[in-house]
Amino acid sequence: MVAISAVALAVIALAGCAPARSPYVASTLPGPQQSSTPTQTQKQTPTPTPTSTALPDRTPKVKGFDKTAHSIDNPNSIWVVSDKLRPLRPIDYTPPDIVTVPVAHANPPRLRKAASAALVTMFAAAKNSGGGAMQIQSAWRAYSVQVSVYNGWVNSLGKKQADRQSARPGFSEHQTGLAVDISSVPATCSLATCFGTTVQGKWLKANAWKFGYLLRYPSNKEKVTGFQYEPWHFRYIGVALSTEMHKEGITTLEEFFGLPAAPDYKN
Ligand code: DAL
Ligand code: ZN
Repeated sequence: MVAISAVALAVIALAGCAPARSPYVASTLPGPQQSSTPTQTQKQTPTPTPTSTALPDRTPKVKGFDKTAHSIDNPNSIWVVSDKLRPLRPIDYTPPDIVTVPVAHANPPRLRKAASAALVTMFAAAKNSGGGAMQIQSAWRAYSVQVSVYNGWVNSLGKKQADRQSARPGFSEHQTGLAVDISSVPATCSLATCFGTTVQGKWLKANAWKFGYLLRYPSNKEKVTGFQYEPWHFRYIGVALSTEMHKEGITTLEEFFGLPAAPDYKN
């Protein structure tokens, strides 16, 4: 049994860190085009930026789906890929359009606008179709908040285990405002592996793609994503990409975009 300090407990509350088009995808649900900021929609960077950590094969592999439609490097892009080899740039990046999400929450319910709209729709659909009641456990976390969260885990579990479950500041999807930790109402198995066996966890695993969300850290992909199974952590990527990944049966962004596996940090 691991002894957990008071500071760690406070941090834990935050930290836990497709075939046909869905009937839930209403015309108002923001897809990549509608949800993009101007910087996302312009294909103005023909060559990789100097910050790119890899030279992936980004040739569209499936006819009709353009894997270069959005940047995977620009933190403003809904397709940005952040992992242990791909820090956000700038490291203390702050999203441009954070809003308060009008849903139940255990911590400040803030996400980027498009992610917020999709989450509201998803929670309502869950409630109406056997997915149960859900709440936001943790959503956008500023760089400074991630500093506290990560350090809390290091202090309670040691660096090695902390790095398996909490991203270092500047490397967390939560910092992009596109990731959300979801728990059930009332909370059961909150930020725990058994969330995946709850009504809510099972529904999300089967249906989140319909709303543009991806279960970002699947159970068998720690060597690819760098993080343990997190059945509660969902990343907004837009309906076009989530549908394509579902259709192709590809569960990680690294594999979909042909990026290197990111089991460890460089340092
Ligand atoms: N728990 C995820 C990996 C994060 O800290 O962003
Ligand atoms: Zn998370």
